[in-house]
Amino acid sequence: MPENILVAIAWPYSNAEIHVGNITGSHLPGDIVARYHRLIGNNVLMVSGTDSHGTPVVLAADKEGKPVEEVYKKYHESFIEVFKGYGITYDMFTTTHSENHFKVSQAMFLALQKNGFLFKKFSKQWYSPSANKFLPDRYVEGTCYICGYEGARSDQCDNCGNVLEPEKLKNPRAKTGDGALELRDTEHFYLDLSKLEPEVKKFLQERAPHMRDTVIGESLRKIESEGLKARSITRDLDWGIPVPVEGWTEAGKRIYVWFEAVIGYLSAPIEWAQLSSAALSASKGQKDAWRDWWTNPNAKQFHFIGKDNIFFHTSQWPAELMGAGSAFMEIFAGEEVPLTLPYDVPANQFMNLEGKKISGSGNWGVWGLDALTRFDPDALRYYLTVNMPEAKDSDWDWAEFVARNNNELVATWGNLANRVLAFCYKNWEGQVPSIDVKTLRDSDLSLLAVIEKGFALVGAELEAVRLRSALGEAMKLATAVNVYLDLNAPWSAIKVDKAEAGKAVYTALKAIDSLKVMFAPFLPFTCEKLHGFFNYETPLFGEQYTETVKDSLGEHTVLRYRNVGSGLRPEPNVQWKPSELKPGKKLNQPAPLFKKLDESVINEERARLGQ
Ligand code: MF3
Ligand code: ZN
Repeated sequence: MPENILVAIAWPYSNAEIHVGNITGSHLPGDIVARYHRLIGNNVLMVSGTDSHGTPVVLAADKEGKPVEEVYKKYHESFIEVFKGYGITYDMFTTTHSENHFKVSQAMFLALQKNGFLFKKFSKQWYSPSANKFLPDRYVEGTCYICGYEGARSDQCDNCGNVLEPEKLKNPRAKTGDGALELRDTEHFYLDLSKLEPEVKKFLQERAPHMRDTVIGESLRKIESEGLKARSITRDLDWGIPVPVEGWTEAGKRIYVWFEAVIGYLSAPIEWAQLSSAALSASKGQKDAWRDWWTNPNAKQFHFIGKDNIFFHTSQWPAELMGAGSAFMEIFAGEEVPLTLPYDVPANQFMNLEGKKISGSGNWGVWGLDALTRFDPDALRYYLTVNMPEAKDSDWDWAEFVARNNNELVATWGNLANRVLAFCYKNWEGQVPSIDVKTLRDSDLSLLAVIEKGFALVGAELEAVRLRSALGEAMKLATAVNVYLDLNAPWSAIKVDKAEAGKAVYTALKAIDSLKVMFAPFLPFTCEKLHGFFNYETPLFGEQYTETVKDSLGEHTVLRYRNVGSGLRPEPNVQWKPSELKPGKKLNQPAPLFKKLDESVINEERARLGQ
């Protein structure tokens, strides 16, 4: 039975360009896992979108001196370009600034209110008399009252990682330079997380066995030491989702960005299903298709995020879902059904660059779109996977990038595929040698047996989201094929006995054809190309495309994915299995898959940093 897998990826704020740290942190691992599950025939839905609200976005617009809507859209469009360029195959990459997301978020708010998990309270917030408004969250910076860090934001400290109470911040100053600040009373809604603490703890303990130590450890430790506290879920702001309570929008209040952005994991599948049903009117029930991942208790939901987002995904979001219970569906669809809870939150640590934190302000970064103008996406994906910060922070180092590209990707895998295919194409008239498979020798069969076992080995690592290790296993198998070829040397054997050489070439081709599938989740562009050299009719993967959605808020672009030649709800296209390469199969003219990089790249790239 195919499983239903929701690959849910952190929604990037529309306040900065995407860099390699963002890609390796969440989008790339999510894509690798999604592609793997598609290859084994599971029903995958991969979603995310632009996190378009909140002070990060408002401040970016202030700084650029442009309307928030314009700035959010600019980043949203550029994110879509990045994901197309890197082959991050979202079934639905949308935005929180959509009518659908507003509705779903408001229904969630009302469900929590109905179940008694919301309350109203007055608190003190920073107010600027000169600007005549409240300055929430990132609008105000100051000294952290927990660790003493001077660049803390009023809601969160990036140094100690704590969520802060704004009124306790020391030396507060307005980011916008809006003069002296004072504390004023303001009323907000709070989500009473304390009432849900036992459920959240139980939820985490149940999942502990298959969750990363870093993630489960931090989540449980936080609950043990501080407990879960009520948190405000509205703000004094005029950009964002209206609070679904009379008078609140008029009073200049909106829903807090962290309360609603996580709801995107639910609203994006709903929008995906609506769009698919509009396009596929013949397919009945398509507009309810999102339920396969959301009202099906056996669906597995994976959340790919960076370590700074752990609390929101392991505690706050599950608490929202548990607190809403079946009331969300009651409000949204008129029937009481509980929603599925996350299965795993494989959060990554951070990637630095040449020993320093990536930062836009000093242009210390390798930027997603810019890097694609000089390097192929699979070369970037390779380095971002072997260097993925799964257990601890990692470092992007240009010398290492060049070395690993040349010594591993090109030397071990690319040359293997190219040299065998080119040799075969030239000497066997563009066909797989027409050998009798019954005559294969022990050494041929034992190589093929090792490769076959690789599917289970690499697959187990992918299922457990140990992606570095999964890629490492596949690379070891490529090395095994190289060793086999060194021993069998068909390039010399052909001069003596072409039939014997043909057996080695057949064996190596079959191994490469299998390895192509194992490498495919990591290196989809070149594996698809290689698949073409083998002259298969159906591609390994589908294609990405964009659509424009119109709604009462205007219009927004969404990035989507479909299997080639089939409907929007792709049939499982099972390919994760050993090659069944037929002797005599016609091949296509091969070409090298990767480029060797010149050492000069290292200094050229380093010279760009900090400029
Ligand atoms: N926008 C947040 C960030 O960049 C992540 C939001 S994840 C979501 O840190 F789940 F809330 F969407
Ligand atoms: Zn701090």
